[in-house]
Amino acid sequence: MPTPSKQKKRKGSSPLAAIVLAAGKGTRMKTRRAKVLHPVCGRPMVYFPVKRALEAGADPVVVVVGHQGDEVERSLRASLPGAPLRFARQERQLGTAHAVLAAKASLRGYTGPVMILSGDTPLLTTSTLASVVDARTAPQSLAFATMDLENPKGYGRVVHAPGKGPALIVEEKDATPQERQIREVNAGLYVADAGFLWSTLSRVDAKNAQREFYLTDLVALAADGPGAVAVRVSPVEAQGVNDLEDMSLATRAMTRRIASSLMKSGVTLEDPERFDADEGVEVGPDTVIEPSVRLRGTTRIGGGCVIGQGSILLDTVVGDGATILPYSHFDRASVGDGCRVGPFARLRPEATLAEGVPVGNFVELKKTSMGKRSKANHLTYLGDATIGADVNVGCGTITCNYDGERKHPTRIGDGVFVGSDAILVAPISIGKGAYVAAGSTLTESVAAGALALGRARQVNKNGWARERAALKASGKEK
Ligand code: UD1
Ligand code: CA
Repeated sequence: MPTPSKQKKRKGSSPLAAIVLAAGKGTRMKTRRAKVLHPVCGRPMVYFPVKRALEAGADPVVVVVGHQGDEVERSLRASLPGAPLRFARQERQLGTAHAVLAAKASLRGYTGPVMILSGDTPLLTTSTLASVVDARTAPQSLAFATMDLENPKGYGRVVHAPGKGPALIVEEKDATPQERQIREVNAGLYVADAGFLWSTLSRVDAKNAQREFYLTDLVALAADGPGAVAVRVSPVEAQGVNDLEDMSLATRAMTRRIASSLMKSGVTLEDPERFDADEGVEVGPDTVIEPSVRLRGTTRIGGGCVIGQGSILLDTVVGDGATILPYSHFDRASVGDGCRVGPFARLRPEATLAEGVPVGNFVELKKTSMGKRSKANHLTYLGDATIGADVNVGCGTITCNYDGERKHPTRIGDGVFVGSDAILVAPISIGKGAYVAAGSTLTESVAAGALALGRARQVNKNGWARERAALKASGKEK
């Protein structure tokens, strides 16, 4: 799976627990939806720090939830089935220290190191998490991540004691004008010993500009006690998402990682800047992806395929050697090896193409399977249909699957030839090897090997045009 930063679990089996803070509303987002639920590459933002903590070897990972907490819990459980997740409620958001304390009961009895992450830092990689874990100088000491920013606005500033390492973190709103000049900021990623954490957090108060319990106070308390160490990490990874513009930048950066991991595994992206993919999509080697393609959800594409410009694939499986021509739209479809689909094809849920099936322009399929080598090359709607092998579906064919109340099935046997512009009123079945004459409207099933004609007999009036012209000339035409 081309997960961008899939690193190995930490060596050995040293214990590690993690707490991911995800209870805040995210006021700066200006949206109704809680910040950590906003999607980055198809996953709620909070999925990423949780996943990376698991990859770093954390067991359990306690997620502190509050705003829209049920939804946060549901989406994480669904996307990480079987993972050692626990959920703790923080009913009122009284600050980051208060949020960590909300996780205390979930870690009762645990005595090892605890990693604390923010739910709004989706770009952190597992190796960065490991570097902070490994930076602790003694089991009791605190390690935390910092970064240097051109514009440190909004972040907690890291104040160092000359020659002694970090002394404290001061939040922007509490900082003196001089402290605000500091460009080394707190990235919001900490590793502390459980015993130190619980005994120290109870001493944190809310005597500050925001009247909140600041987790950042841990640094001063550790500096005075067991020691604190600051680990510089990349700002590209550690910048938090606070508003929708930050979110778009995070999405772009995450997409670039997915793109680069695909390219490294043998996938050609004609323009990685015009490519969108959700976390977890899979593409086989020797596949070529043209510009402006969007691969979403659980989409899996085999090797040696071409995905045409502007195509959108959601939760779709494509076999090996398939060609998807430009501007096709697939949703929960399955495309067999060697199929050739599009341009402008629409495959809706449960459209299933066996090997080598061509589906052409302006063809829509819904809950319809087509057997090997069957064709539907132009302008067709097939819904609730089961189509055998070697069937020709002529241009303009329509299955009338809906009577205004219910949907009805159409069955077409192997080797059937459906002429152009046929209307098949379901429920109906066409037996093996039968022929349907072009322009037919069929309301009754057809036996194997039969020819079905369902249209008015043609009448030719020879010389009609000449007679009409003569009438016109004599002034007698009505
Ligand atoms: C915090 C840090 C700041 C740091 C920055 C890095 C504090 C006091 N400040 O500021 O030093 O530079 O992160 O990104 O910690 N949350 C809760 N419950 C709460 C409050 C917050 O769960 O009561 C969660 C939020 O949902 C969010 C995370 O904690 O996921 C961080 O909170 P946020 O308000 O974004 O903190 P910052 O102001 O960015
Ligand atoms: Ca933040």
